[in-house]
Amino acid sequence: MSVTIENLVTSGTFSLDGGTWDVDNNVWIVGNEDECVIIDSPHDAEAIISQVRGRKVLAILLTHAHNDHIGAARAVAEAVKAPVYLHPDDLVLWEQVYPDAKPDRYLADGDVFQVGGATLRALHTPGHSPGSTCFHLEDEGTVFTGDTLFDGGPGATGRSYSDYPTILTSIRERLLTLPARTVVRTGHGDSTTIGAERETLAKVSQ
Ligand SMILES: [Fe+2]
Repeated sequence: MSVTIENLVTSGTFSLDGGTWDVDNNVWIVGNEDECVIIDSPHDAEAIISQVRGRKVLAILLTHAHNDHIGAARAVAEAVKAPVYLHPDDLVLWEQVYPDAKPDRYLADGDVFQVGGATLRALHTPGHSPGSTCFHLEDEGTVFTGDTLFDGGPGATGRSYSDYPTILTSIRERLLTLPARTVVRTGHGDSTTIGAERETLAKVSQ
């Protein structure tokens, strides 16, 4: 039986560089009836814990450390007794939210996570933030992109620790090289496909 992919939307705020904005964030839970991983832990620990429904949580995988993606991570981790994974290049952002605690584990490009008989592979895709990481669920033909790639193009790069040329390189070399039918499940808003975003990026580069 293939894995299930559940989407939960939580609401709160994103703060950086002295500004604060209202945001809705996607949480993705990948697994089966017995075990799962959680991709991002924004805003509302109770809602995320409820969505787990008592399953064993193997890992909390963070796409990056902007506060709107990690605000509930420690509370969820303690409740479900699972380790939090973050790419170390995002520690500068993590420390703005959790100055007194480190992530439990560090992600590296190519790391593999097995859940429900499927394989999630970490793709380091810097640009939106230095440690931004996508997770490719190879068997299901889907990729979880956090704020690196959205329905309509690249994630924002206007604030601290972001870089536009770097995100374009990451998207072109690590994401647009996936099969066109690959479903892109994002950190905010609707899903898209690699094929659709190839067309978006072709316009961006003109
Ligand atoms: Fe972000």
